[in-house]
Amino acid sequence: MLYQSIIKPLFFKMDPEKAHYLAMDLWTIASKIPGVGFYYKNKNKQIAQPTLVAGIVFPNKIGLAAGFDKNGKWMHELALLGFGHIEVGTVTPLPQPGNDKPRLFRLPKNNALINRMGFNNDGVDALAERLKNRPPNVVIGGNIGKNKWTPNEEAYKDYLICFEKLHGLVDYFVVNVSSPNTPGLRALQEKEPLLQVLMGLQFHELQKKQPIPIFLKIAPDLTEEALEDIIDVVTQSQIAGIIATNTTIDRQQLSYSQAHIESIGAGGVSGEPVKHKSLHIIQTIKAKNPNLTIIGVGGIFDADDANASLNAGASLIQVYTGFIYQGPQIAQQIGKGIAAQ
Ligand SMILES: Cc1cc2nc3c(=O)[nH]c(=O)nc-3n(C[C@H](O)[C@H](O)[C@H](O)COP(=O)(O)O)c2cc1C
Repeated sequence: MLYQSIIKPLFFKMDPEKAHYLAMDLWTIASKIPGVGFYYKNKNKQIAQPTLVAGIVFPNKIGLAAGFDKNGKWMHELALLGFGHIEVGTVTPLPQPGNDKPRLFRLPKNNALINRMGFNNDGVDALAERLKNRPPNVVIGGNIGKNKWTPNEEAYKDYLICFEKLHGLVDYFVVNVSSPNTPGLRALQEKEPLLQVLMGLQFHELQKKQPIPIFLKIAPDLTEEALEDIIDVVTQSQIAGIIATNTTIDRQQLSYSQAHIESIGAGGVSGEPVKHKSLHIIQTIKAKNPNLTIIGVGGIFDADDANASLNAGASLIQVYTGFIYQGPQIAQQIGKGIAAQ
């Protein structure tokens, strides 16, 4: 295939973050060539699998995970590739530059990435503006977070700001308290602060007129007790469900030398090393509360991985690292494989 034999080897010689922007710039140009849009839209009809989750009809079960299109710049181009849903963000109230570069690294031996982007984004106002011109026929999720400088005691206000500004513009929300790259963020996964954030959103005035499902995105590194607390909070706050999972801070699965891994520095691992952790979290949640709705993400590269996540109890799946390693056909490939099951 063209991607595996030519495009990927070229891109993998470049700095990963530069490759990300170049790839999307090239696809933005290519997608405007007459006939290309028509061709892809037709192809996408073949993987249509309308799925009702949290009151929303998703055109198929495959989504693009948060962090790829943080600013909602490529929603139209990504929808053409067959994703049934695209999660934009994580967005914060004010724009912020993120961590110093380099901050994204490939670990091809493990089909993995390490990133410490740190919520680099244009801020919620810029995203809201772009969402006014969102593509039709694709579900858009808004993944929201807090600015780096906002202390945890005031974090709920940041989530509220993003929620209010995106309400009515996105189909579902994701409260991200699980990125390892914003200092202290994951402490918000604890019962009290989590309840404060989720209740404030779920029972917001805006939800009375137009209820928008809210999901909580969790880390794969939670202890069983912490997961139990989270399930309690999700149930108590009556939000729509859980996205499992974000990147892991565990590096034990990596087959690189200690020195190499240390030279990369801090960051979350995504891709194959997260697969079993994500599956385990999904299975544990389902065992404790079979009624909870779950979106599965972490190390999904093909239809077998997607089916494993769906069979474990996920209603939908998302990819990020698999998109980088497998290429732009991934939604099509998984879509066909799931349909064939
Ligand atoms: C470069 C990069 C940036 C990411 N940024 C975000 C983000 O802003 N918000 C978020 O919730 N998850 C973010 N993630 C996590 C992914 O959405 C996903 O949960 C995780 O990578 C596991 O899926 P994967 O193995 O398919 O990549 C990011 C992942 C990567 C690799």
